[in-house]
Amino acid sequence: MDTIIEIKGLTKDYEKGFWKKKKIRALDDLSLQVEGGQIFGFLGGNGAGKTTTLKLLMSLIFPTEGSAKILGAEIGDPAMHQKIGYCPESPYFYDYLKADELMVYFGRLFGMDKGSAEKRSAELLTRVGLEKKDWKRQLRKFSKGMLQRVGLAQSLINDPEIVFMDEPMSGLDPIGRRQVRELIAELREEGKTVFMSSHILTDIEALCDNVAILRKGRLVEEGNLAELLRSTAQDSGFEVSVGGIESSVFKEAIKGKIASEINVKPGGFSLNVANEQDVEAVLASLNKLGGRLIGVNPVRQSLEELFVREET
Ligand SMILES: Nc1ncnc2c1ncn2[C@@H]1O[C@H](COP(=O)(O)OP(=O)(O)OP(=O)(O)O)[C@@H](O)[C@H]1O
Ligand SMILES: [Mg+2]
Repeated sequence: MDTIIEIKGLTKDYEKGFWKKKKIRALDDLSLQVEGGQIFGFLGGNGAGKTTTLKLLMSLIFPTEGSAKILGAEIGDPAMHQKIGYCPESPYFYDYLKADELMVYFGRLFGMDKGSAEKRSAELLTRVGLEKKDWKRQLRKFSKGMLQRVGLAQSLINDPEIVFMDEPMSGLDPIGRRQVRELIAELREEGKTVFMSSHILTDIEALCDNVAILRKGRLVEEGNLAELLRSTAQDSGFEVSVGGIESSVFKEAIKGKIASEINVKPGGFSLNVANEQDVEAVLASLNKLGGRLIGVNPVRQSLEELFVREET
């Protein structure tokens, strides 16, 4: 797949204060390449610079330094913007518009005739899980999650090749989150690219092929998500969960084989063991002492651990 987003040294300073102007560097020399046909996760804690990056890419604000290309065109190129979609963070629309009016309005902006815009609007509002009875309600009566769905539908009106989504799951209840997750996965199946920022790590783990992690405006980690998690998980070993035995007795019997503290679990306790040989030795002791095995699981580093490590 081709590189369809190419960011080079993108930097943004905001000015703060009225009298004494002070500069805040919100984004510092970001270089990043994203290939097409995938879901790319753009991660970072509050204030890391995610929204700033997305606004720069959407040409809503201008970089202090650096440049970027989307689909081979400079980010200011209006023709390129016809081929991409953008769902802002906490989207806010004119209160007195109705959901379907807003959609048709955006469709017309992209040059669709009224009939096609209405058809596409109905398709998309259904797809994001908004009930038909709500299509003709004014947006001021919408909940946060409903507005989020309208924002997502709006970002897809022009059948974009790349969709940029800033925290697409925020404000959604668990059912809504699942619907949006499925929608994003479907977009990838259609060959689209989704560039999404988020700090909801379970969603990122469930969806993203590649990720970049920002911290205080700087890129700290980048790559294939599975590989990133694997490469930082070399000596994590196995978690053995057992029951029907005193933890102190067991601990004494397998001295030297335990790689962690004992954790109390429902029905017993668990402990970490470094490698497969140790697992076998631990299971043999358990058998001898008449304990019960609940399970053995490889310890996989979660994205949360990676994320927290980058933050500290
Ligand atoms: N218009 C602005 N003027 C001044 N400072 C700003 C402005 N917008 C953002 N900032 C600052 O820039 C930094 C990055 O903000 P940004 O909104 O890009 O972060 P974010 O990663 O999207 O965070 P969040 O997860 O909270 O949405 C923060 O320190 C923020 O306070
Ligand atoms: Mg943000």
